[in-house]
Amino acid sequence: MRAVTWQGRQDVRVENVPDPQLEQPTDAIIRVTSTNICGSDLHLYEPLAAFMHRGDILGHEPMGYVEEVGPDCGDLKVGDRVVIPFQISCGGCWMCQQQLYTQCETTQVRAYDNGAALFGYSELYGGYAGGQAQYLRVPQAGFTHIKVPDGPPDERFVYLSDVLPTAWQAVEYAEVPKDGSLAILGLGPVGQMAARIASHQGIRVIAIDVDPSRISQARALGFEVLDSDEHGDELAAVAREMTDGRGPDAVIDAVGMEAHGSTAVSAIQKGAEFLPDSVARPLMLRAGVDRMAALYAAIEMVRRGGTISIVGVYGGAADPLPMVRMFDKQLQIRMGQANVKRWTDDIMPLLTDDDPLGVETFASHIGPLEEAPLLYRAFQEKKGNVFKALLKPHAEQNSVVSS
Ligand SMILES: NC(=O)c1ccc[n+]([C@@H]2O[C@H](COP(=O)([O-])OP(=O)(O)OC[C@H]3O[C@@H](n4cnc5c(N)ncnc54)[C@H](O)[C@@H]3O)[C@@H](O)[C@H]2O)c1
Ligand SMILES: [Zn+2]
Ligand SMILES: [Zn+2]
Repeated sequence: MRAVTWQGRQDVRVENVPDPQLEQPTDAIIRVTSTNICGSDLHLYEPLAAFMHRGDILGHEPMGYVEEVGPDCGDLKVGDRVVIPFQISCGGCWMCQQQLYTQCETTQVRAYDNGAALFGYSELYGGYAGGQAQYLRVPQAGFTHIKVPDGPPDERFVYLSDVLPTAWQAVEYAEVPKDGSLAILGLGPVGQMAARIASHQGIRVIAIDVDPSRISQARALGFEVLDSDEHGDELAAVAREMTDGRGPDAVIDAVGMEAHGSTAVSAIQKGAEFLPDSVARPLMLRAGVDRMAALYAAIEMVRRGGTISIVGVYGGAADPLPMVRMFDKQLQIRMGQANVKRWTDDIMPLLTDDDPLGVETFASHIGPLEEAPLLYRAFQEKKGNVFKALLKPHAEQNSVVSS
């Protein structure tokens, strides 16, 4: 089959690889009809490269049809149309019973003392083959799937794997009080979807980014928007002015470890590129390697006693935090990978023909799998206004369609 493979730092290629096989009675194989590129894939493209192996298959946002099932896959059947959550979880362990699926005790990656295994997300998360491929082996398949009806296009459902539950959890964790305000830092797919969800729930949203195209997109959607670069050190003060002098009740950080505006750590991330893996790995695991500009902005901006919901991924072990501000301001902070299936029943009623969240037109680029290297590069270099790219692994067509 054809698959998007990691070949080195900033080197992604579509290659012929062996078809996946059932390995465990709990496995299923799906034929992938749509699969997205995610902001999280870019962390592997660069800062987390030390934990990747040449030939690893990328991707964690696939959907398709069940092609084969092992004998222990519950009620999953060949021919079912399914979206696959980005995390692999069993549904039955103690953590899964608490609906903390990203902490699943059956799939936790104990070698690194990490949470549940993830598809296509480096050795740190179990080294499982990812979903940017024509076929995918799904471990713990009896639980690790979301059944969706036949009929509507893939674009209706494909974001149930990641963007929708991640954005939904970000808004839930922000716990915005009635008639309250929510600032969202980072207007990539995750932040912009969180803005759409919050505003659908009647929450006042202040949307913030540094990227001109993301800013103009958010303006076109009717959000109150701030340009973080334009306001610089005054950003928190400007947000306070907009919210009775106190600051927003909650702030979502949908930026994460590659925040723009953190030059010192940016140099460490870049430096790690040139180190052998044996040196880069301990550096990445023990040092403060995240660019923290967005999180610092969130801490400054949120009102006293307010909540910060961190959904952007961080990876450093010793990142400096302004404890005095956080303690004095009496902040609450919630974070983590999204517990995907925790939110499916809340989201599904919004994936209707009238499409209140605009999922069917959410992708900026739709193309065949073969276009992945170009799209990764464009995404990384912020060229061509790549916002969300959706790949069709069995498509015949050869050119990227941009809406
Ligand atoms: N928690 C989860 O389960 C989960 C799931 C998916 C993605 N993520 C993470 O969420 C984050 C966002 O994902 P995405 O796909 O939207 O990524 P993205 O890279 O498309 O979006 C990030 C946005 O942040 C903006 N930005 C950079 N620095 C900023 C700053 N200092 N202030 C304000 N905005 C700034 C960028 O211009 C960009 O628009 C990533 O870290 C990704 O790994 C987390
Ligand atoms: Zn993702
Ligand atoms: Zn479990």
